Amino acid sequence: MRVFSLWQGDIEPYVQIIKDAGGLVFWTVGSPDDAARAKDMGVDFIVAQGREAGGHLVGSAPAMPLLPSIVDAARGVPVVAAGGIAEGRGLIAAMALGACGVWMGTRFVASKESANHRGYKERVVAARATDLVETELFDAGWQESPHQVIRNSTYSRWEEAGRPANGQRPGEGERISSFPDGKPLYRYDIAAAWDGMEGDWEASPLYAGAAVELIHDVKSVAEIVGEIEATAQAALERIADLRSRFVRRVAAA
Ligand SMILES: Cc1cc2nc3c(=O)[nH]c(=O)nc-3n(C[C@H](O)[C@H](O)[C@H](O)COP(=O)(O)O)c2cc1C
Repeated sequence: MRVFSLWQGDIEPYVQIIKDAGGLVFWTVGSPDDAARAKDMGVDFIVAQGREAGGHLVGSAPAMPLLPSIVDAARGVPVVAAGGIAEGRGLIAAMALGACGVWMGTRFVASKESANHRGYKERVVAARATDLVETELFDAGWQESPHQVIRNSTYSRWEEAGRPANGQRPGEGERISSFPDGKPLYRYDIAAAWDGMEGDWEASPLYAGAAVELIHDVKSVAEIVGEIEATAQAALERIADLRSRFVRRVAAA
């Protein structure tokens, strides 16, 4: 099955083309208003992105209140939860809020298989939520699109310079690194640091969300999925235990 993930902009013209070719459409939305349009457009799965997500943001609110409001608006289209989820407790919480599954970004940056720079993965592991900033700073290639990143040298220099406007920012147009094919990476580019990049790779956007609070090591994808399973199972057992204690207390009353 071919799966297509769409988000920002007008997706409608693409949905029918994908459906005609036999593909499945996932659409990342950030509001119940968009979710309400999904069914008529023929979208197969809605991805509800909470504002705590890493990378570029469409979420209008954190996932906890946003997700159930999107589920309510989805008119039966299945909803996948995104934003702030890194293991099984988040999966069970999202399912309790009406999601059929989860969609994780930041957790998989810190995976062995990710093509991101080793130093970027280490920054994700070391970061706390207080190290994150929501900004529109890394805009070369995509302007006025808010994104969440770990504070880095480019962000700090820009802040120290008094947050100047685009075109007057420190080091504008400066080459900070190169892609493996030799293509230059400039300061303020939207591209994240790739494996093997040399130079000032740390100055590129280190996309990450609040899930950094739960990420303590770089693991293989198989280990991450295994951890999701184990922690989801433990969460379900905890809920069952709480429920049976509650039932016993009510019966004894
Ligand atoms: C490094 C990185 C790159 C991303 N690139 C894309 C992208 O190209 N397209 C997209 O739809 N979402 C992209 N996202 C957003 C994710 O699809 C997802 O909404 C988000 O990561 C979920 O929140 P989480 O990071 O807390 O797991 C990216 C996220 C990260 C962290």
